[in-house]
Amino acid sequence: MRWIDGLEAAAGEKLAEPVHRYFRQGSAGGVSAGEAVAAWSSYRFRPRVLTDVSTVDISTSVLGTPVDLPVLVAPTTLQRQADPSGERAMAAGVRDAGSLLAVSSNAGTTFADIGSVGTPWWVQIYVVKNRDITLKMLDAAVAGGARAVVLTADTPVVGRKEDDGPTVWEVIQPGDLLANLDADDYPDEDLAKADDLTPDVIGWLTERTGLPVLVKGVLRGDDAKRCSDAGAAGIIVSNHGGRQLDGAIPTAQALPEVAAALAGTPTELYVDGGIRRGEHILAALALGARAVLLGRPALWALTVAGSAGVTRLLTDLGEELEHAMRLAGTPTLAALTPDLIAR
Ligand code: FNR
Repeated sequence: MRWIDGLEAAAGEKLAEPVHRYFRQGSAGGVSAGEAVAAWSSYRFRPRVLTDVSTVDISTSVLGTPVDLPVLVAPTTLQRQADPSGERAMAAGVRDAGSLLAVSSNAGTTFADIGSVGTPWWVQIYVVKNRDITLKMLDAAVAGGARAVVLTADTPVVGRKEDDGPTVWEVIQPGDLLANLDADDYPDEDLAKADDLTPDVIGWLTERTGLPVLVKGVLRGDDAKRCSDAGAAGIIVSNHGGRQLDGAIPTAQALPEVAAALAGTPTELYVDGGIRRGEHILAALALGARAVLLGRPALWALTVAGSAGVTRLLTDLGEELEHAMRLAGTPTLAALTPDLIAR
């Protein structure tokens, strides 16, 4: 068994049950969360033979930041439950693998602290009803060295989770969440997610931060094109790990349509959700993604082995990708094209 395959169960030995459940769970009936991995595994390849694969190069750049591998870490909350150093430990693990981290706007560590680890990072943002709160958070992220803004667009309301037992909110500590916001200063309605967003928000965020904006949570080609036309520097095909609209299509299935819609635009394409193996990454890159992001696996690795676990997760998957590229007869990332996938 791969080390990666044992992580979820091993994390269950260390985490409080409601936290383990929260990390694992999807929304509503858990349909989207349950089928994400299988959707990647359902692709079949058309490998090339008699190509020189003695050297394989998986280094690339993401919105101009060089990375050693096309595997990044997605924004997730409650990292202090996984490791006492929380986001700092996650950032150190990502740094040592030569990758890039997206940091949740609900992080339990200040952006300044995360920035001081020296890892390239993007800030994920939920625009909330009181835009002053969003702007304050963005100012702190810019000051902390964030290189891009990831606008999560699939969350006008938070997907309903069906809990059997105490919820995570009953067991976490006050410092685990929202270190970048004085939540007590605002009424709940100010902090609620904005449910009136349009593509105009992309220009607003770009202008207010001076940073490129990626839109996360896109599952349709027409939406990707609307975002690109509105100035998005990147699109992250995502169904939020199956935690928003249950029954939303697997990202493995959505990716080709989105790639087609973005063809000929400068907008970079990323994907997350259910990516667990080198072969999954091979498929994602062949179908047009520039890099993939990992959510739950990074939380499990952080829980089980701290920052070293995160580094191992990323480097193991990078090695699996290299191995798969050798077997596929594709020594460079540029050689990963849609014809590698059987239709
Ligand atoms: C998330 N995700 C998420 N996304 C986001 O934009 N902001 C956030 O704060 C969070 N928080 C969060 C917490 C937990 C526990 C999970 C599991 C996920 C979604 C995340 O960024 C990503 O889209 C998915 O996790 C990718 O799917 P996999 O890799 O977990 O299958």
